[in-house]
Amino acid sequence: MKNEENRLVQIHLIAALTWLLFGMFAGLSLAYRLISPEAAEFLQNIPWLNFGRMRIFHTHTAIFGWLSNGFIAFTYYAVPKLTSQPLFLPKLARSNFYLTQLAILLGGIGILLGHAEGVEYAEAPWWADIVFALAFVFTILCSIGTIFKAGLSSQLYVTLWYIILGFSFTALNFIMANTIVVHVAPGAAGAALSGLWIHNAVGLWVTPMGVAIVYYLLPVILQKPIASHKLSLIGFWTLAILYPLGGSHHYFYSPVPWWLQMMAVPLTSALIFVVYTVVYNFFVTMKGSWSQISSNISLRFLAFGIFSYIITCTQGPFHALLSVQQVIHFTDWVVAHAHLALFGVFSWWIFAFIYFAWPRITGREILSQKWAEWHFWLMFIGFFLMYYIPDTIAGLMQGFTWLRGLPFIDSLKASQPFWIPRAISGVMLIIGVVLLCLNLYYSQPQAQKNGSATV
Ligand code: HEM
Repeated sequence: MKNEENRLVQIHLIAALTWLLFGMFAGLSLAYRLISPEAAEFLQNIPWLNFGRMRIFHTHTAIFGWLSNGFIAFTYYAVPKLTSQPLFLPKLARSNFYLTQLAILLGGIGILLGHAEGVEYAEAPWWADIVFALAFVFTILCSIGTIFKAGLSSQLYVTLWYIILGFSFTALNFIMANTIVVHVAPGAAGAALSGLWIHNAVGLWVTPMGVAIVYYLLPVILQKPIASHKLSLIGFWTLAILYPLGGSHHYFYSPVPWWLQMMAVPLTSALIFVVYTVVYNFFVTMKGSWSQISSNISLRFLAFGIFSYIITCTQGPFHALLSVQQVIHFTDWVVAHAHLALFGVFSWWIFAFIYFAWPRITGREILSQKWAEWHFWLMFIGFFLMYYIPDTIAGLMQGFTWLRGLPFIDSLKASQPFWIPRAISGVMLIIGVVLLCLNLYYSQPQAQKNGSATV
């Protein structure tokens, strides 16, 4: 049974990394096309490779292929351990792996062939949605089913709370987006609901699953309990209650009712509290153990993810100020912010999980600590210095150019110097992930490694 569970985690991780590479190549093609008029023409005459379809393919593969497979792998790893129960319906979980990949593949093909639906991050056509919804329900059955089989109690570790939250809210949210938003709600009402979907996909899928990883890995790696279990549960309940209500902040200055936009301001600001429960727990638990981040690559990805989490979540309430919105709305500032969250935080926490779990599920150590270091530094320099900072500046240039009423082309010219490093960063990030994949592919049985790897 244990071997079957390990194999399941392993294949979901392999699928996650494969989708990540597809997504990154798509992202690179977008970044490249934005650096000059000549590059913009690149492949533009092939309909299924044009910018519009590639952009949706990029977000589809990143969110559903990479992040979601990573979270499912983590769930199948952590749930049996935290409940001391074997996975519920393991055969279903195994066949469901193929159904999940089929759903993501169908969604990707549908998008590239031009069948995208008009709801951001839920663009996959309805026939792919049905397969994905079915696969998601089966995943819930196997994972949450294991928790229920073990029996719900007040002693449930916080990681399990977050996993239950992530899966149950997301099932409802996915169905809402792909039925009501796509087919029923018209105009501004549909826009408000689609804001809710995007917001909850990040806040009630990606966030709880990412935080679940931190709360699991931190005490296990450091071999000590988290600083405050009570605070972690307060953070959990405030996320569950406050988060769903602030989604209309995606539609400031739009035809969505003004009271709904106004309501989003205090609710978004209140979320800072949720964030700091995690941050407090992280820093206090880390006390006296900081030196370990130099030798433990898993802990290092976790720690740098926390720093990005502080920045991105402090930006969030700041974005909810209408005066700030006047400058940044529709600009690249938002693109940089989105990557800081999904890449700089949650992808880094999944990398932390991969380095942690791979030796434990395969009995094999990564081939080279040096390659792991290269992976980290390519991510660090490639992302923060070459992507996040230049793209944030490009966003400000665009916002101020538009506010001054200058021609649109001026904002493109002002952005260009900052888009060039972003295209270069794409190459660095891809090399980093390829190094990670090679490190796992050539991993060696633990006995043969003579204890050289420290992750
Ligand atoms: C090689 C790495 C990557 C590059 C070069 C890249 C580049 C890009 C570009 C150029 C855009 C379109 C911006 C626009 O339309 O103006 C974009 C959008 C987006 N990317 Fe990436 N990306 C990369 C990796 C990722 C990863 C790993 C994720 C998620 C885990 C991600 C999530 C997103 C999201 C959510 C958007 C939409 C942002 C928005 O609408 O505000 N990207 N990316």
